[in-house]
Amino acid sequence: MSKTLQQQLQQRFANLIAFFGFQKNHGVEPLHQKPLRGFWQKLVDEKILKGETLSVLAPMADVTDIAFRTMIAKYSKPTGPDVMWTEFVSADGLCSVGREVLKRDLEFGEIERPIVAQLFSSTPENMKKAAALCRELGFDGIDINMGCPDKSIEKQGAGAAHMKDWRLAQKVIRAAQEGAVDIPVSVKTRLGFNKIEYKEWLPKILEMNVPVLTVHLRTRKEMSKVDAHWNLMSDVAKLVREKTGEVKDGGTILLGNGDVKSVRDGKEKANSTGCVGVMIGRAIFGTPWLFGENNEIEKTLEERLKILIEHTKLFEEKLGDIKNFAIMKKHYKAYVHGFDGAKELRMDLMECDNSREIEEKINLFIDKLI
Ligand SMILES: Cc1cc2nc3c(=O)[nH]c(=O)nc-3n(C[C@H](O)[C@H](O)[C@H](O)COP(=O)(O)O)c2cc1C
Repeated sequence: MSKTLQQQLQQRFANLIAFFGFQKNHGVEPLHQKPLRGFWQKLVDEKILKGETLSVLAPMADVTDIAFRTMIAKYSKPTGPDVMWTEFVSADGLCSVGREVLKRDLEFGEIERPIVAQLFSSTPENMKKAAALCRELGFDGIDINMGCPDKSIEKQGAGAAHMKDWRLAQKVIRAAQEGAVDIPVSVKTRLGFNKIEYKEWLPKILEMNVPVLTVHLRTRKEMSKVDAHWNLMSDVAKLVREKTGEVKDGGTILLGNGDVKSVRDGKEKANSTGCVGVMIGRAIFGTPWLFGENNEIEKTLEERLKILIEHTKLFEEKLGDIKNFAIMKKHYKAYVHGFDGAKELRMDLMECDNSREIEEKINLFIDKLI
């Protein structure tokens, strides 16, 4: 075959593929021409443009529920967190008959604002409907989980599995944007699936004009077993700026996540790497005052234990009818440590089944202290 004929055939084949939309780089268009920031714009104006960094609360399933978030708001606001995330909620579940029970995970109080609902799904239609529902419920924003390594979620093609299929990921983002209409849609993800591949993966998300991107600085394979790769954050920040522009000019707001120990630690990490802020997860366990003005002043033991009782009562009041009391026991491990008798008290609390029993045990312990 002559070279020209071969070239002509190749061109025809390429045109055909392009016509049917199957070309290699075919993705979807974002709904908005530039990132839709919504409530984030206020944080940009009042904090970021004044050189301050953001500290937001991470979504943590069976941890940052309405009871714990209310405690965090009470003991940390108005200083922080700048934004709270709900636990992740299945968009597919919200479109199923089990919807009403799941909707309870989306309850929140005014004190928690600004608050973002985190959703996961690999089905664009469900994502669109669930995003519309979250808007109706009054959320300030929606976040899509594209980093969760949980097997049951990955099997559904959601969470971290999105990193293996960026075209579908883009469709899911677009669907959320359509459902969310005028509230912002952000994404939380990792550095890659089996290996560090943020240079290939993150641009695919950024093409969708997301106003906020949170990067947990580990791969899916690393789970939480290694230290977060904060050494890569400067490069991630550079990439985000190159692709979307400076934040002052409408660029994507980048939040770093992984092993941040306190608001002060987060500020140092953000300032030294060029991300706009940090998302804090596990450091909040047992310290709902973490984001507060006096967060570095140690609470007395008695104060800490009284907060534990208050948290337990709130859990029972808000979620007692649908959640297992065992969920509270994770918190007890965090509240009760580092003092004489902590181990025995913890063991006592593990035997309890309700707030009355918890209060009795704690009060007995406090009486002995005095
Ligand atoms: C108990 C637990 C539950 C979590 N649930 C979620 C979740 O629902 N959605 C999500 O995006 N990440 C979830 N994560 C990940 C955290 O949001 C965060 O990315 C991770 O813990 C790293 O941050 P850290 O070192 O500050 O904890 C969870 C982590 C933990 C420990």
